Amino acid sequence: MKIAVVGTGYVGLVTGTCFAETGNHVTCVDIDKEKVEKLSKGQIPIYEPHLDALFERNIRQGRLSFTTNLSEGIQDAKVIFLALPTPSDGDGAADLRFVLQVAEQLGPMLTDYKVIVNKSTVPVGTAEKVHAAIAANCKSEFDVVSNPEFLREGFAVDDFMKPDRVVIGTLSEKAKKIMTDLYGPFVRQGNPVYYMDERSAELTKYAANAFLATKISFMNEVANLCERVGANVDMVRIGIGADSRIGKRFLFAGIGYGGSCFPKDVQALAKTSSDYKYNFKILKSVMEVNAEQRKTIVDKVRKHFGDNLKGKRFALWGLAFKPDTDDIREAPALYIIDELVKAGAVVAAFDPEAMSNVKKAKGSDIQYGTDEYDVLKNADALIIATEWALFRTPEFERMQKLMKNKLIFDGRNLYDPIQMKEMGFEYFSVGRA
Ligand SMILES: NC(=O)c1ccc[n+]([C@@H]2O[C@H](COP(=O)([O-])OP(=O)(O)OC[C@H]3O[C@@H](n4cnc5c(N)ncnc54)[C@H](O)[C@@H]3O)[C@@H](O)[C@H]2O)c1
Repeated sequence: MKIAVVGTGYVGLVTGTCFAETGNHVTCVDIDKEKVEKLSKGQIPIYEPHLDALFERNIRQGRLSFTTNLSEGIQDAKVIFLALPTPSDGDGAADLRFVLQVAEQLGPMLTDYKVIVNKSTVPVGTAEKVHAAIAANCKSEFDVVSNPEFLREGFAVDDFMKPDRVVIGTLSEKAKKIMTDLYGPFVRQGNPVYYMDERSAELTKYAANAFLATKISFMNEVANLCERVGANVDMVRIGIGADSRIGKRFLFAGIGYGGSCFPKDVQALAKTSSDYKYNFKILKSVMEVNAEQRKTIVDKVRKHFGDNLKGKRFALWGLAFKPDTDDIREAPALYIIDELVKAGAVVAAFDPEAMSNVKKAKGSDIQYGTDEYDVLKNADALIIATEWALFRTPEFERMQKLMKNKLIFDGRNLYDPIQMKEMGFEYFSVGRA
């Protein structure tokens, strides 16, 4: 099948590449000229494990190409995926500007039946808006389908190739048949494809992300209570996670959720609720807890050193919002940097993949190390913001020789507090008194 993917970011590039991998011919469209130039030269502009092999193979075999020209990109496509940004607007609602602009442009370009698939995370009712924006200037037949994406950055290829489920929101039998054919190769093991109306599909994505964010905020509150009552959140986590009704995943305490999805999606769902005059109380608490949790690590630093951090030198391990990605959108590390720099401290950071993105955002506000040990030289303390595997079993003796103080603030609970004490570290983590 011939496919176009409009928007070639984390979702669009993975979507396009994976559909090419199953034999489709895919053209990816993006307005970012520099990005398209890079992609056309065979360079991947993001860090996503395991994407390179598929990307290179499908370019080589002529199934994957890139353009900035929308009408050229969609010309022969039967299905057009929209994988466009839906950032938060000033009010917390999802900004549909990018999606609706492309929908308007598509109207006059359609000359034969096509399925327009919304892969962006969009509020309830967007499929109708997209339909109206296209129809305003369109003489051809088309359907709009809501097909939310559940991939996780860092595992995106695996998640796309073997999805837990595929959600297809459409009432059109014709579009349903095309989508079923397209997704067939990805669900051969029997993973379910759920068909539903567009509105339910749109809400499914927000409900999924909001539920996961709720799990994180809940465990962070349990962790905060553990610190006060002298319990260990990791023991509690294991204790409750063994219950199959609760499940083991997404129960790790830390310094709050970040990334390009959870913060904006929880906010957007709260906004949708209030637009419909429904007070979704839990969501408000989830956001409030997350905003507070983000501060806890800097509060611990201040409690230790006092409010005057001027001239103190902090090593910071991890900048990405989570491991295995270079994405720094809403990363807790950025908050830590801002607070410490504002207080006059010096921050020397290292991240295996996200440093170039942070350099673009923060420039020379902080120093950047060549590896995780480089930044420890003469550090008053180490702060850990991202749980990269690389940080899990470091050479502690080497660290001690490099650091001014044997002091660690760990926002991701990477080490055993008892072992750290035995090694002579002063070690602060989350929810482990
Ligand atoms: N990143 C994730 O993990 C993830 C997971 C599931 C769903 N989503 C959702 O998918 C959508 C896309 O997210 P993303 O992380 O891939 O975003 P992104 O910012 O990485 O990529 C969006 C791309 O769209 C391009 N673009 C903007 N306007 C355009 C236009 N008019 N024509 C063509 N291209 C245009 C941008 O240049 C960019 O390359 C969002 O709605 C997001 O919420 C993201």
